[in-house]
Amino acid sequence: MDIQSLDWRPRIGAKTDYGIGCIGCGGIVQYGHMPAYRKAGFRVVAAYDLKREAAEAVHALTGGSATVYDSLDALLADPAVDIVDIAVMPWAQHEIVRKVAAAGKHMLCQKPLSLDFDQAVDIVNLARDAGVKQAVNHQMRWDSGIAAAKLLIEQGAIGTPTDAQIQVGSATPWHMWPWLASAPRLEVQYHSIHYIDAMRFLFGMPEWLTSRHAKYAGQGNVKAETKTITIMDYASGVQSMIAVNHYNMHGETYAVFRFYGTEGAIEGTIGLMYNYPSGRPDTLVYRQQGKDPIELPLDEMWIPDALVGPMAGLMSAIETGGLPPTDSADNLNTLRLVEAAYLSASEHRSVALAGFLERR
Ligand SMILES: NC(=O)c1ccc[n+]([C@@H]2O[C@H](COP(=O)([O-])OP(=O)(O)OC[C@H]3O[C@@H](n4cnc5c(N)ncnc54)[C@H](O)[C@@H]3O)[C@@H](O)[C@H]2O)c1
Repeated sequence: MDIQSLDWRPRIGAKTDYGIGCIGCGGIVQYGHMPAYRKAGFRVVAAYDLKREAAEAVHALTGGSATVYDSLDALLADPAVDIVDIAVMPWAQHEIVRKVAAAGKHMLCQKPLSLDFDQAVDIVNLARDAGVKQAVNHQMRWDSGIAAAKLLIEQGAIGTPTDAQIQVGSATPWHMWPWLASAPRLEVQYHSIHYIDAMRFLFGMPEWLTSRHAKYAGQGNVKAETKTITIMDYASGVQSMIAVNHYNMHGETYAVFRFYGTEGAIEGTIGLMYNYPSGRPDTLVYRQQGKDPIELPLDEMWIPDALVGPMAGLMSAIETGGLPPTDSADNLNTLRLVEAAYLSASEHRSVALAGFLERR
């Protein structure tokens, strides 16, 4: 196995000139989606935001080529828009999806797909009934460290996977999302959801999930949990743990992943979390007993670079008639794990996934 030449970068299809219309043009679009799309050569042709200045910022980031619209309906009526890129707060997503589906446009939704599981199912059904593609922006699957780990695991580099850990202690700049302070659910709903989706990408659905949630004494007006530990047990024997603390205030930030197996181990860092959102590239080291460790030359970050992946996957699905890698119907399984985490934490027990919120 030639590990140094592992091609972990997002696969981009032959057709990439789809017109993208942005709905919601705030932080993540400006510092995440736009630089990623520019790098990939994707075309943002239209922008709409309740705050016109946010849409105008996206217009400026396209060098003045994207049309700024004053309403969602006006953007959806633009025949140049093939794909709608939705990046609003999750409670606003459902009504936008309804209109996008009615307009017959494909869409990339932001995570979480919804704060309510039944509503998420409705969001999925709206796209299915309209016959349009719908992907969810779980870009961690294309984060260089996670994407490379996936390839290594698939190629048998660690043998049979046995253990998986993602551990993060960061000083998260919550002020970037003032609307999160009053959220009744916080850490798992908005942040660990990425790690949960990445674990599912790597190891599939677990049999059992156990989650513990806590607050930091100095978290001020931030209402919900900011420290969580989630353990997932798989039928294969894999045990995974996601442990995240957003109030590591003493300057020794860490964001590490470790995937162990019978034949080897993968260890790496999620560079973005060392100084969100400027961050640093990921790292990854592959280890085998009795051999020198091999370091992969990664040079990308979770944000913005990995944001190429979900859009590229959606474009390929449109081109080929297949499903996007982060198809929304499949994303319901990530939401089932999120719901299981809150149930586990509130009832102080492990939750069996068999039958739990399974789609009827
Ligand atoms: N995938 C990721 O890594 C990632 C990272 C950050 C945020 N997010 C998600 O992206 C979404 C946006 O987050 P953000 O950090 O950009 O927030 P933000 O507050 O910076 O921006 C949200 C924008 O949406 C606009 N908006 C709200 N409702 C709207 C509506 N009905 N129509 C049009 N515009 C509307 C607001 O005016 C604002 O400009 C959230 O759902 C968040 O969870 C995902």
